[in-house]
Amino acid sequence: MASTCVVGLQWGDEAKGKIVDLLCDQHDAVVRYQGGANAGHTVVADGVTYKLSLIPTGILRPGTEGVIGNGVVIHPPALLKEIETLAAQGVEMGSRLHVSDRAHVILPYHMAEERLTEESASAADHLGTTRRGIGPCYKDKVGRVHGVRVGDLYHPERFREHIERIVAFKNRLLLAMLPDYEPIEAGAVAEEYLGYAERLRPYVRDTTTWLHHAIGQGKRLLFEGAQGSLLDVDHGSYPYVTSSNSSAAGIAAGSGIPTRHIDRWIGVVKAYTTRVGGGPFPTEQDNEVGERIRKVGREYGTVTGRPRRCGWFDAVAARYSARVSGSTEISLMLLDVLSGIPELQVAVAYEDESGRKVAEMPGHLSDLERCRPVYETLPGWDSDLTGVRTWSDLPVEARNYVAYLTKQIGVPVSIVSVGPERRQTIILGNDAPRV
Ligand code: GDP
Ligand code: IMO
Ligand code: MG
Repeated sequence: MASTCVVGLQWGDEAKGKIVDLLCDQHDAVVRYQGGANAGHTVVADGVTYKLSLIPTGILRPGTEGVIGNGVVIHPPALLKEIETLAAQGVEMGSRLHVSDRAHVILPYHMAEERLTEESASAADHLGTTRRGIGPCYKDKVGRVHGVRVGDLYHPERFREHIERIVAFKNRLLLAMLPDYEPIEAGAVAEEYLGYAERLRPYVRDTTTWLHHAIGQGKRLLFEGAQGSLLDVDHGSYPYVTSSNSSAAGIAAGSGIPTRHIDRWIGVVKAYTTRVGGGPFPTEQDNEVGERIRKVGREYGTVTGRPRRCGWFDAVAARYSARVSGSTEISLMLLDVLSGIPELQVAVAYEDESGRKVAEMPGHLSDLERCRPVYETLPGWDSDLTGVRTWSDLPVEARNYVAYLTKQIGVPVSIVSVGPERRQTIILGNDAPRV
């Protein structure tokens, strides 16, 4: 056993990409197990910025393999484009990319279906999704009748007939519901996707078997979560979530690898909180503090460019997610962004309208919306942290902040990040504050 999982413990964009990249040299393959091109993982290496969406971050390291597992939903043109963009940056897939034949495929009608709900007249139906067809594709997967898997693209006759039936159904539905809907031509879509399939053929295989062989050969796997535990369809702030199990709960189902093979469970958090899209966010700071964090932290979505909502660290939420994702250590990211804020607040509990303490993360949207955070205030620090490389060189207030979050989450912090570059990282080792 020497496999690791890296998952976000907030609402996504915790800087998972940076941590996965840092840990690549201790692993042989990086595995994506859920989500799709709604993810945007950024790695900055030697001044060059790489943006990964469907392709596992490990692909940036020449000796590391990348696996897109069965739980991922794939939009073939997006995958092909990402392969090309990376090649233009000097990152060649060669034989290192492995795409599951069981992964589901996003088709043009999925984009139209998402438009239907996201642009519907009722504001209550808007989730603020990334519009990448993720939800409608997962719906079809679970609904079974209209699901298309990557492996189906290699059985052309059957695929053409299947698409004919699906498109007839979707066109009827969408024509009735979307005023400006242009009916899709089944034959054209089938041929388009068969074309993508030919280009993807070198990468497509039974990744479950491939992964089990890799484990048999003693290879070390790194499971790279997309989104964050609070966006998990079962455990997150439903319905303002994504459509997959984006906590560590998704690993076994989305890769075919039982989690008993994992011994390192890393939860990634920002030193504050952000969220893109709709949904409750108890510690949101829709004021100059939030604006400052957005500006300093460059908090704009990697995928959609939307400004991210920003707020204080929410220890109630992080405690809950760390439990759900089984985190045994925490990577605390973007600590540098908080420099210069005189006083920092951390939500340590919630209370309801009548002032009653709510110690745990409520499961129901209405209860969560009613929660007001109970803050503890900590002194901030002035100095720039981006050049700091050791625990002892951090200002005492920053060390106290990390120690305080450790106690609040109840899980030790093993890595502190003070900038986007690989080298802007402090590995705590024996310096880690005690829980
Ligand atoms: P992911 O989706 O979890 O991989 O995170 P994103 O890539 O969407 O967003 C994280 C952003 O923060 C990226 O632009 C990173 O380059 C950047 N980043 C990562 N770590 C740090 C850090 O410690 N400090 C600062 N200032 N930026 C960071
Ligand atoms: P990474 O992997 C942050 C959010 C969307 C929306 C909700 C549902 O970069 O952390 P979807 O398109 O998935 O149906 O949208 O989830 N969302 C993310 N937010 N980071 C992400 O990925 C996200 N992927 C989806 O903004 O609120
Ligand atoms: Mg992101």
